[in-house]
Amino acid sequence: MDYQQALNAADQLLHDIVDSDVEVLRDASRHILEAGGKRVRPRLTLLAYEAVGGQNFREVLPIASAVELVHTATLVHDDINDHGSLRRGRPTVNARWGRTFALLTGDYLFTKVYQLVAPFKELNTVFAEMTVALVEGETLQAAAAKSGQLDRETYARIIAKKTASLFGAAAKMGAMVGGGSQEQINALEQYGFNVGLAFQIVDDILDLIADSQKLGKTAGLDVAQGKGFATAAAGNGTKTAVATAVVDVDQTDPLTAFKQKMLSGNYIQEGREQATQLSALAEMSLSVLPDSPAKEELHKLARMVIERDH
Ligand code: IPE
Ligand code: IPE
Ligand code: MG
Ligand code: MG
Repeated sequence: MDYQQALNAADQLLHDIVDSDVEVLRDASRHILEAGGKRVRPRLTLLAYEAVGGQNFREVLPIASAVELVHTATLVHDDINDHGSLRRGRPTVNARWGRTFALLTGDYLFTKVYQLVAPFKELNTVFAEMTVALVEGETLQAAAAKSGQLDRETYARIIAKKTASLFGAAAKMGAMVGGGSQEQINALEQYGFNVGLAFQIVDDILDLIADSQKLGKTAGLDVAQGKGFATAAAGNGTKTAVATAVVDVDQTDPLTAFKQKMLSGNYIQEGREQATQLSALAEMSLSVLPDSPAKEELHKLARMVIERDH
């Protein structure tokens, strides 16, 4: 089984694992899982596995699928919190089945992770710590948005927890199952973590500058909700910043004014620079790995994350 076949097999496993006899759980799960998605996290797991010398993708498939399940569960819940109506080019579970079933579908996807990970003794702890961080990150973000106080420091803490923790764990676990040395496992976790930070900063930039159709998800939500890189960089507290923007750019609609202010400021450039640095840092971690096609793919992935436009 090669890498591409392994990715397909991980997708097949996702399809099979959500075969509930409760129709709405099965349909809503497959609706979101089979809508596409970039599959960045399972790619990390599979490539890390291969890069440390893993020989049989089959043994790591449940972990690759489980990291995508965790991610997908968070998207289903995130779209409730963020009021997203489009995801992966389809109506969100929330938009199609309503909030109650979206909440339950997210719960269902999360609990299915137990089933996949149970046989991997020490990986259960990695999943436990990473999912806790994820919930903490989303909660810190909701709290910051609610109070209208999102500064750079809080933003850094939020994205480390809500995004980079999963990226780091995805790569780390691939390396663990592949039998990597402790040094390689640590290096791949660090690689994944930094790629995750860069990925989220770029996601926030795209939320501001790209359109929903291209992204396949509702764009422009961050500014309106006091979230994201530019919001944090633009000032201490969106409520104040939005109010100031109205005066600054002579606009009556505060959100349009704020968005305009962010687009004309240095924030996007600053975000891109930070993401580029993080991606370079990630690439440096790869130096402990022997040369291989998988290692090359990891280099490419770190660059793709900052170059992507959707
Ligand atoms: C979206 O993740 C959520 C973030 C962490 C920014 P992806 O951009 O990986 O979403 P899919 O899986 O491709 O839909
Ligand atoms: C998604 O974050 C949820 C997690 C990272 C846990 P975002 O809110 O930034 O993702 P999108 O923009 O909705 O995909
Ligand atoms: Mg969101
Ligand atoms: Mg986003």
